[in-house]
Amino acid sequence: MIKAVRGTRDLLPPETALWNFVEAAVRDVFRAYNFQEIRTPIFEETALFARGVGEETDIVAKEMYTWEDRARAASEKGQSLTLRPENTAGVVRAYIEHKLWDRGLNKLYYIGPQFRRERPQKGRYRQFYQIGAEVIGPATAGSESPARDAEVLEMLATLLDRLGIVNWNLELNSVGAPADRVQFNEALRKALEPVVGQMCDDCQRRAVTNPLRVFDCKVLADQPIIDTLPRITHFLGEDSRQHFAAVQEILTKVGVPFTLNDRLVRGLDYYTRTAFEFTHGALGAQNAILGGGRYDGLSEALGGPAAPGIGFAIGEDRLVMSLQEKAPADSVLRKPDAYIAPLGAGMNGEAARLARELRRQELVIDLGDETFRLKKSFEAATKAGAKYIVIVGENEVKSGSFAVKNLSTGEQVSVTRGELAGRIRR
Ligand code: HAM
Repeated sequence: MIKAVRGTRDLLPPETALWNFVEAAVRDVFRAYNFQEIRTPIFEETALFARGVGEETDIVAKEMYTWEDRARAASEKGQSLTLRPENTAGVVRAYIEHKLWDRGLNKLYYIGPQFRRERPQKGRYRQFYQIGAEVIGPATAGSESPARDAEVLEMLATLLDRLGIVNWNLELNSVGAPADRVQFNEALRKALEPVVGQMCDDCQRRAVTNPLRVFDCKVLADQPIIDTLPRITHFLGEDSRQHFAAVQEILTKVGVPFTLNDRLVRGLDYYTRTAFEFTHGALGAQNAILGGGRYDGLSEALGGPAAPGIGFAIGEDRLVMSLQEKAPADSVLRKPDAYIAPLGAGMNGEAARLARELRRQELVIDLGDETFRLKKSFEAATKAGAKYIVIVGENEVKSGSFAVKNLSTGEQVSVTRGELAGRIRR
C-alpha cells in the first residue's frame, strides 16, 4: 500500500470546508486593506533562498527540498532547484523581475503550500500552507514608514478577531538595522567566547558564522546560557529606536495590545527592525500562529533596487487547528438544499433537467439515480444532509406538480415546477 509521504497529509471533507471558510474570510480582509493576490512558482532556483533567507538559517542549512534538475542535453548544465520553504524571497524576486516599483507601493498577498524537511509533529508538517502578505516598494512610496508596520499588525489583529480566534498574543521586537547589528555581533561574539564550548554543535558553528542565529537554538541545556547573552534591543541606533517607538505608539492608539520580547529574532536572516509573532495558547509546542517583520535590505541582497518591505505569513494549518477547537467543520459547510430523487426507469434525464433549473437559481442540489428505490433515495438524501427531498416520477413530470418533503420535520407538500425553488429556499 502506498501512503502519503511522512509529514504530508490529505485534507479531506468536511475539514476542507473550514479551509475554504478561512480563505474566503482572509480574502475579504485583504480586500478591505487594498491588498492584491500574487502567485509565484512553488519551486525556484536554490540560490534565491540561500541568498534571501540566509545560508546559516535552519531553513536553508537543514530543511530544504533541493534537487539537481537534469539538463535536456549533455552539453547543457543542470540547475539546482528548491521547493519553496517560504514565499517572501519569491515575492521579492518577482518584484525585481517585473519592476513592480513602477506601481509605487505594492500590497500583495498569497495563499499556498510551502515545504520544509522538519521533524513532523502536531502543527508541524513538511508540506504546510501559508497565508502571507508583503508590503514593498520604493521608500518614496512610503514603504519605510512605521505606519505600514502598524497597519499590517492591526490588519492581523482584525483578521484573527474576524475568525473568532481569541487569546492571541502579539510579541514584538526590533532586530535593528545592519549598522546596529555590527556592534551587536561584536558584543555577542565576545559574550559567547567563554561559554560557547558548553553549547550544542550548531551554536558553536553559529557563534563563528552568524552569532544572531544562536537565539534560534531549541536545545534545552543551552537556554540558561542564551538568557545571559546581550540583546539587540540595547544596540539599536537612533533611527531604529524611533521607528520602533512610532510603531508602538500607533498600535497603542488603535488599541492593538502587544508584549515586547527582546529574545525574538525570527529564524530568517532578512529581517531588519520590526519583528513579530502572534502566538496562541491552544496550539501547544508549535504555538506560533504567524510570524513576520521588516526586510529593508532583501531586494538589494537579491540584486534589486532599494525596496523596504514588511510582511508576515500565517501558518494556515495552525490557524485551522485553533478554529477546530470550537467550530467543527460541519458548522461552516453548506449542506444541499435539496436532494432530487428520480423514481423509476427513464427518469434520470427529467431529474437532471430539474436539478439544472434549480442549480441555476443558486440552490445546492444533490442528484440521485433512477435505479434507487424510494427507501434508498431517502437514506442517501439523509446521509447527504439535504434539507428537502424532491421526487421526480412519471406522474410528477406529467402533472407538473412535485412532492417536496422536509427531511427534518417530515412535512410534505405538493408544488408546481415554478414554485419549487421558492419552496426549497424557505
Ligand atoms: P516563518 O516564521 O518561518 O516565517 O513561518 C510563518 C508561519 O508559518 C509560522 O509562524 C507557522 O505558523 C507556519 N509554519 C512554519 N513552518 C511550519 C511547518 N513546518 N508546519 C506548519 N506550519 C509552519 C516565514 O515564512 C516568513 N516568510 C514570513 C514573512 C513574510 N516575513 C516577512 N514576510
